[in-house]
Amino acid sequence: MLKTILAREAVKYIESGMTVGLGSGTTAREFVKALAEFGPRDVVLVATSIDSELLAIEVGLGDRLRPLWAVETIDIAVDGADEATRDKVLLKGRGGALLREKIVDYLARRFVVLVEEYKVVQYIPTRNPIPIEVVPWAWRHVAKAIKDRYGGVAKLRQDGGKLGPVVTDNGNYIIDWEPSAPIQPSLEDELKLIPGVVETGIFSKRRDAIVIVARENSSVYTF
Ligand code: A5P
Repeated sequence: MLKTILAREAVKYIESGMTVGLGSGTTAREFVKALAEFGPRDVVLVATSIDSELLAIEVGLGDRLRPLWAVETIDIAVDGADEATRDKVLLKGRGGALLREKIVDYLARRFVVLVEEYKVVQYIPTRNPIPIEVVPWAWRHVAKAIKDRYGGVAKLRQDGGKLGPVVTDNGNYIIDWEPSAPIQPSLEDELKLIPGVVETGIFSKRRDAIVIVARENSSVYTF
């Protein structure tokens, strides 16, 4: 499986004594498992979601976990992405963990992104909406402000199973916005000027990231 291959590649970047940011999503989950199996044991881990935290506990790394406020620094963060351009603008947040991911991924000294080749795109967004985490009370007005200023379609993310909105680990809602055209990276900052916006899934400020890509034939390359 390509995600397993990517995860094993990422473990090569992990050294003894490092504080490691654990991303969220299906690829980051493979990394957590690979870290437990092949990585050094004397690491400190900071999880970006309850899901990653639970998995770390499940694979025997629970005693390595710390909350973000308890660590001095993040040496390296390893995370997946929904889309990545060649100049390393990422789209993230399909799994709803974008806020903590952005905090940890932006703090980290090194940032490793793991993607299958189909996620490497020419512009963002290509096939996914842009997730925007919002204060629940304000969601309707944030959605309207986005549509009025930038066009496209902005919908409250609903929980597939239950009726009602998806609630993030931080108690917020998510608006999925489909702009009518590709966006400029500067929108990452602009959107946050709308009162009620907490964070967006546009990750444009880690152009120094190491992006590891898995091809269909299982070979990998880095850019
Ligand atoms: C979690 O909210 C997301 O940002 C994920 O990192 C992203 O959606 C990639 O997820 P997969 O590895 O499951 O594709």
